[in-house]
Amino acid sequence: MDTDLQSLKETALAEIRQVSSEIELDNVRVKYLGRSGAISKLSENMRNVAKEERPKLGKLLNEIRVSVTDAVEQRSRELQGQRDIDALATVDETLPGTPVRVGALHPLTQLQDRAIQVLRRLGFALADGPDVETEWHCFDALNTPANHPARNESDTFYLPSGKLLRTHTSTVQIRTMVVTEPPVRVIGPGAAYRRDEIDATHLSQFNQLEGLYVDRGVSVADLKGTLEYFVRELLGREVESRMRPHFFPFTEPSFEMDIRLAGVNDGKWMELLGCGIVHPAVFEQVNQKRGDAAYDPEVWTGFAFGMGLDRLAMALFGLTDIRLLIENDQRFLAQFAR
Ligand code: PHE
Repeated sequence: MDTDLQSLKETALAEIRQVSSEIELDNVRVKYLGRSGAISKLSENMRNVAKEERPKLGKLLNEIRVSVTDAVEQRSRELQGQRDIDALATVDETLPGTPVRVGALHPLTQLQDRAIQVLRRLGFALADGPDVETEWHCFDALNTPANHPARNESDTFYLPSGKLLRTHTSTVQIRTMVVTEPPVRVIGPGAAYRRDEIDATHLSQFNQLEGLYVDRGVSVADLKGTLEYFVRELLGREVESRMRPHFFPFTEPSFEMDIRLAGVNDGKWMELLGCGIVHPAVFEQVNQKRGDAAYDPEVWTGFAFGMGLDRLAMALFGLTDIRLLIENDQRFLAQFAR
């Protein structure tokens, strides 16, 4: 019996070594270890074996079962390893990898984010308004009379409903004051639209950043100090700035602020923004809309500014064509990935 078992074990191990696939291996496993396999059959036969022989025989059978099981597992691992090697043989690991393309924020977004960061440090909160506006929010409330050139059909996109695409973000000043009591300190970044002929320096949609500060006793000195700080933080300590008298219907006095910075705009002065002290007539319009006297011009004063982001981006990034900013050309945008 012993020798029979020994040779059974050897045959099993030899067969296991010879299989060349998982399927063959499984067949061999079933043949010996399966429910009606050779080893299981022998275990059942134990009943017919003399009592004294049983422990010895049982032990032997168990050893055989263990070695056959181990051999099956080991062969399975070998076959698996061989499969991996075969699979890798078709791969050329000297080929370059597939580059991962990293996205980046649009240069205008980067500039806008930086500007917002600086102004938030000064306590300005973000405000918002719709691109499709009423004539009242865009013009009347901003003390812009019906005969003002900005209101011309040739300058502004009017919709059949009578609404229009806002020509500036100053609408956000009005939207904020109508729903918020003073003091207020807000900025409103967003798109504005004008019926400009599109060329290298004009688009019919552009980007502005509006600011409004209303409190008691706000002066031109506050306006100037705030904007000078803002410009220095945004563009660096070397930047020069100046304020020139200007006209806007909704501010009095009004100014334009220019900046000059080596390496930007050929080192020449460039216009950055419009600004001024909020006109009392604007407060009156807001009060009328609110139905109260929250913005009493005798009590409250304020300053406002509106900055164009596209021209500044062009100057900072050395762009000669504004259309690059809207074409979504990968070759252009990839240069701004950081
Ligand atoms: N809305 C003005 C423009 O678009 C800029 C501006 C904003 C001027 C706020 C004064 C105060 O040109």
